[in-house]
Amino acid sequence: MNTQEIMQMALDLVGMTEIPADSAIYLPGRGIRKVLFAIDIGVPELLLAKELDCDLVIAHHPQAAVLSFPQILDRHVDLMVSKGVPPAAAQKAITALKESSEFRYQAGNYEHVTGVAKLLGLPFMNIHNPLDELGRRIMQQTVDGLGEGATVGEVVAALQEIPELASAPTRVKVAAGRPGNPAGRVVVAHGAGTNGGYEVARTYFEYGIGTVVYIHVDYAQAVRLRAEGKGNLVVTGHIASDLIGINPFLRQLEETGLELVKIGA
Ligand SMILES: [Fe+2]
Ligand SMILES: [Fe+2]
Repeated sequence: MNTQEIMQMALDLVGMTEIPADSAIYLPGRGIRKVLFAIDIGVPELLLAKELDCDLVIAHHPQAAVLSFPQILDRHVDLMVSKGVPPAAAQKAITALKESSEFRYQAGNYEHVTGVAKLLGLPFMNIHNPLDELGRRIMQQTVDGLGEGATVGEVVAALQEIPELASAPTRVKVAAGRPGNPAGRVVVAHGAGTNGGYEVARTYFEYGIGTVVYIHVDYAQAVRLRAEGKGNLVVTGHIASDLIGINPFLRQLEETGLELVKIGA
C-alpha cells in the first residue's frame, strides 16, 4: 500500500473523486505495513510512531499546513441548498465563519508538525472530509428512519443508539429547544469542516428546518439560538461523532492486512 492508495480508499467510501480541501498527504510513502492513527496528531505522536516502528501516520483533523481548509466550509452551502435554503442566504450564513477560518489559518504555524515528519522521514497524511461525510450520512439516515412527527427527544434517543455514541463518555444533548418539541425536518449539518455555529442553524430554521444536528457547538452560539427560540439544536459530541465515520475506514484498512496502532479509536 502507498499513501495515495490509502487516500483513495477513503474517497471511495463516499464516492469522492478528488482529495477535498481539508485533507492532504504531507509526506507520501510506499510499502506501508504499520500505521499509527489518531484524530489529532502533533509532534509527540510523530515521535511515538517512530518509536513504535510505524511507517505511516494518519490524522483525522487537518494540520495548520492545510491552508485550503476554509474552502471546505462551502460544503455547508451545498448542504443548505440541498435542504431548500436559497443559495444567496446559504452563502451569507457562512461568510463570517469562512473569513474567521481564513484569519486563523493565516496566523497558523503551517510547517511545524509537518516539518518534524519530514525531518523524521515519516510519511504523514490527514483524512478529514471523506470520513466526516460518511459519518454525516450514517447520522442523517438514522434520523430519517424516524419519519415525520418525531420529537426532539426521539431524535436524541435514535442518535444515542449509534454504537460510537452509545459507548462514548459524552452524551447527545439538546443545546437549544426542548426534548418534547416536535423535531420537524431534521438536518445533520456535519461534514463541512466544522459546525456552522449560530448563523447556519438560524438560516436552516428560517427556511423550514425544525432541528439542526451539530457534532459540537460553542456555548455562546447555542445560547443565542436558545434566546431566539426559532428551532431545536442537538449536539452529538465531537470525538464520538468523528468516530462514526472513522471506524468503518479503519476496519477497511485492517482488512487489507495493515497493522494499526490506534490512539482513542
Ligand atoms: Fe471529523
Ligand atoms: Fe473533528
